[in-house]
Amino acid sequence: TVVILDFGSQYTQLIARRVREAGVYSEIHPCTLSAEALRAIAPKAVILSGGPASVRDEDSPRLDPAVLELGAPVLGICYGMQLLAHSLPGGQVAAAKEREYGRAELSVDKPGILFEGVETDKPRTVWMSHGDHVVDVPHGFTVTASTQSVPAAAMEDASRNIFALQFHPEVAHTEDGTTILNNFLFKIAKVRTGWTMASFVEAEVKALREKLGDDHVVCALSGGVDSTVVAVLLHKAIGKRLHCIFVDNGVLRHNEGDEVVTYLREHFDLNLKYVQAQDLFLDRLAGVEDPEQKRKIIGYGFIEVFEKEAKAIPGVKWLAQGTLYPDVIESVSFKGGPSVVIKSHHNVGGLPEKMDLKLVEPLRELFKDEVRKVAYELGLPESIIWRHPFPGPGLAIRIIGDITRERLEILRRADKIVQAELKASDWYRKVWQGFAVLLPLKTVGVMGDDRTYENVCALRIVDSLDAMTADWSRVPTDILARISNRIINEVKGINRVVLDISSKPPATIEWE
Ligand code: XMP
Repeated sequence: TVVILDFGSQYTQLIARRVREAGVYSEIHPCTLSAEALRAIAPKAVILSGGPASVRDEDSPRLDPAVLELGAPVLGICYGMQLLAHSLPGGQVAAAKEREYGRAELSVDKPGILFEGVETDKPRTVWMSHGDHVVDVPHGFTVTASTQSVPAAAMEDASRNIFALQFHPEVAHTEDGTTILNNFLFKIAKVRTGWTMASFVEAEVKALREKLGDDHVVCALSGGVDSTVVAVLLHKAIGKRLHCIFVDNGVLRHNEGDEVVTYLREHFDLNLKYVQAQDLFLDRLAGVEDPEQKRKIIGYGFIEVFEKEAKAIPGVKWLAQGTLYPDVIESVSFKGGPSVVIKSHHNVGGLPEKMDLKLVEPLRELFKDEVRKVAYELGLPESIIWRHPFPGPGLAIRIIGDITRERLEILRRADKIVQAELKASDWYRKVWQGFAVLLPLKTVGVMGDDRTYENVCALRIVDSLDAMTADWSRVPTDILARISNRIINEVKGINRVVLDISSKPPATIEWE
């Protein structure tokens, strides 16, 4: 394991991903991790991340000296480098004359193992993001690289295996960033590669078998890639002792449930219950216009239905969930001193405690792109692997205002066209989410010789990395034209299509 101690950098997750891309398992821990806990992990290497604080501030996060006594090679990046300089005798950090963000030209002055394979006869582009820099390196350290504004852009004490970089090797804009990180991992720390998704599947199936023994597990299938991968992995591990429940809440997209359920039933001998609960949900939603009220009805309704179904299965002790690594990482923020915020997963909010079940989360070590690789490894089809995220409250929050069965049918037909055209043009995989929203608004149109007075539908197609921020996708106009023409011609009840061109923030991805 390579441990990344997080000092609050926006790039911390990126470091972990780069290490994993090199085939090495890495974990992120808050910089407040105790020395004891760190020793117990016995890391093969430690990376100190960057961070927004200044070591010159009294209450900024510190380096536990125990980290340097573990015997594992250490790489400090940005704040991590400043921290090393600040903590070790002889080192000194000062405010840079100008804060520096973006590209800089790096000269490698004393190439050692860390810079092996990096061209040294011409400057290399690196990515900087800092306000402080090291003015005196600690005793025993040498400066190995510099830039115009930063005399010590890299330093090392090779005899103690401590290395540090002022720039960010983990960002794609840094030329040779991967070479430098890999030198640290393989030439200095001599870690073994072998963390692949195939090895993950094998190890995880074995671990699940040991953990679960003869116990029975229940799992909610949503149709998305995460819960499908959870189900297939568990099925591989414990076979029929896994019980999957798919609830049709009446606000799913066209074919949403059928596709996944049919696929899983045909390809795996899965215990799978397909619960048709459309009426229960739609009756409760009738006349409800408030978005939060809709969410509550669907959330509580799901728990109610799921609990009833799960209780009917004798001897279930575990609930499986598709929690991913970004939900698990304790994120560190330093606004007015260190504070630890723990994100939690609310997919099946409160279920485990309520039902007295233990939680099993086979994906809690993985990033989303790794889950997709596992899905490939398990042989799942592209239609499931690349499926866009779909909110729990489903189409209920894409029909603005009152939800009727008729309006649901109109939206489903429009949305089906959006999905089909995005897929046909290859844009489906380029965008984060693309869908139709039905507005509570009628406008006048003309069809043939007749005046129409029908609904408006909006297209919402966005680019995003994590749904926290998003921008509207610049989908070619001919594709938009085809979507619009088809919806107006083929979907009775819609006579106008508009395009949502708002970014998040300040708008959100969904309209409700
Ligand atoms: P917003 O609209 O907040 O959406 O920009 C961000 C992401 O979250 C999804 N979303 C939800 N997912 N339950 C969910 O499971 C919800 O209530 C919910 N609301 C929004 C949305 O589709 C987008 O991916």
